[in-house]
Amino acid sequence: MAFERVLTRNVDRPEALTVRGYREGGGYDALARALRLQPEEVIEEVKKSGLRGRGGAGFPCGLKWSFVPRSTDKPKYIVCNADESEPGTFKDRLLMERDPHQLIEGCIIAGWAVGANTTYIYIRGEYTRAAAVLEEAIRDAYDHGVLGDSVLGSSFRHDVYVHRGAGAYICGEETGLLESLEGKRGQPRVKPPFPAVVGAFGCPTVINNVETLCCVTHILLRGADWFKGIGTDERNTGPKLYAVSGHVERPGTYEHPIGIPFQELLDGCGGMYKGRELKAYIPGGASAAMLTAAERDMPLDFDSLAKAGSMLGSAAVIVMDETTCVVRAALRLARFFAHESCGQCTPCREGTNWMRLILRRIESGRGSEADLDLLAHVVPNVGGISLCALGDAAQGPVKSLIAKFGEEIRDNLRERRYPLPRVPFFDLGAVA
Ligand SMILES: Cc1cc2nc3c(=O)[nH]c(=O)nc-3n(C[C@H](O)[C@H](O)[C@H](O)COP(=O)(O)O)c2cc1C
Ligand code: SF4
Repeated sequence: MAFERVLTRNVDRPEALTVRGYREGGGYDALARALRLQPEEVIEEVKKSGLRGRGGAGFPCGLKWSFVPRSTDKPKYIVCNADESEPGTFKDRLLMERDPHQLIEGCIIAGWAVGANTTYIYIRGEYTRAAAVLEEAIRDAYDHGVLGDSVLGSSFRHDVYVHRGAGAYICGEETGLLESLEGKRGQPRVKPPFPAVVGAFGCPTVINNVETLCCVTHILLRGADWFKGIGTDERNTGPKLYAVSGHVERPGTYEHPIGIPFQELLDGCGGMYKGRELKAYIPGGASAAMLTAAERDMPLDFDSLAKAGSMLGSAAVIVMDETTCVVRAALRLARFFAHESCGQCTPCREGTNWMRLILRRIESGRGSEADLDLLAHVVPNVGGISLCALGDAAQGPVKSLIAKFGEEIRDNLRERRYPLPRVPFFDLGAVA
C-alpha cells in the first residue's frame, strides 16, 4: 500500500498558509484535542508513540518533556530549533515555508504539555523566506484566537516569537542556541544541568527540532498507536523526512516511513545522476560516517545506522557517485567543522584544524602514507572529551574515510594519483 504523506501533506496546498485554509484540512483539531486532555496525558501519548527527536540525537521526545519540573514558580519555555545549518540539511525549511501552522500547532501542544506560555522559534538567519512565512502565520494565528491570552477559547495563554540567528552552525547545538537567544556569543554550556531544568534565561526549557514538533501535531490528532504503526520497529517510529542531495536525478525532500532502505529512497529520487555508479553516501548530514555502495540496502533509521557505525542524524542523505574523490569530500566537511568549532575545547579547536590540514595535504598530491597514519592517530582524539557533540560530529566522516577507503587512498598515494581529476558536479550540456 502506498504511504500516505503526513508531514508534507500540505506542501502543495498554498491555502494551508492561512489559519482558515489550514483548519479546512483538519488543522488545529490536534490542539483542540490536546486542550481537552490533562497535560500529563499529552506527555503520555507522546511517550507512547515512541517519537524520537528529529534534530540529530534521536532522544525520546515524551521523556524529555517529562523532565520539566511541574511545580516551579519560574516561567517555562518551548524553544523550537530551526537553525538547520548542517551541510546537506534542508528538510525543516520545507515544513516552515509550506506549512507553518503545522509547526505552530506542535509548539502550542508542547507548551500545554509542560506548562509553558512562550515559544521561541530560533531560525537560521539565512532562512529569510521561512522567517517571513512564519511571522505572517503567527500574526494570522493571533487574529484568529489560536495564539494569545485564550488559545482556542480556553484559559491557556501561549505566545510565539521568531528569533533569527546570525549564521553559526554551533547555534544549532541546544545550549549554544540558548546562549545566542539570550543575546550572548553562541558557545555551548556545560551539561548538566540540562535545559529541561535550567534552560533559557535560567528557566526550564524544552528544546525540540521543527520536524519533531510537527510530528507531535499528528500524534495528538491520530493517536500514539497510529504513529507507532509506521516505521521499522517500536524504537524507530513515525514518518520521516529525508533531504537528498548530490549525484541523484531528482534531489529534494522526501517523506517515507522511518527506516526506508537507502536503495528505495534512491529509486524514489530517480536513481543515480545519469545512471552512474554509487560510490558512497552520507546518511545523516555532515556529521555522519560515510557508507559504501555495498551498504545500499541499509534501513535509514536510528538503530540500524548506529549499528553500522553511522547515524541518522539530521537525515540529510548526501549521495556521491564514482567520479567523486572521497578525500576531497571529507576535506570539504573537515573545513566546515574547523571553521565552525567555537574554540572552547582544545581537542575540537585544534583537532578539527589538524584533520583539515592533513586531508588537504593528501588531496593536493603533497601527502604520503604517513599522513594517513597521522590522520588515523588524530581522529580518535578530536571527540568524546569536549563540551558538545561538534567534536564527535567532526570525527564521523573522516573516521569512515579511513576505515572504508583506506586501502584505496594508500593505493592512490603510492601511485601518486592525487589530486584526482575534478569532474564538474553537474553536466550542464552544450551552451548555445
Ligand atoms: C553542532 C551541533 C549542531 C546542531 N544543529 C542542530 C540544528 O540545526 N537543528 C536541530 O534541530 N538540532 C541541532 N542539533 C541538535 C540539538 O542540540 C538538539 O539535540 C535538538 O535540537 C533537540 O531536538 P530534538 O530532540 O527534537 O531532536 C545540533 C547539535 C550539535 C552538536
Ligand atoms: S566541542 Fe567544539 S564546538 Fe563544542 S564547545 Fe567544544 S570547542 Fe565548541
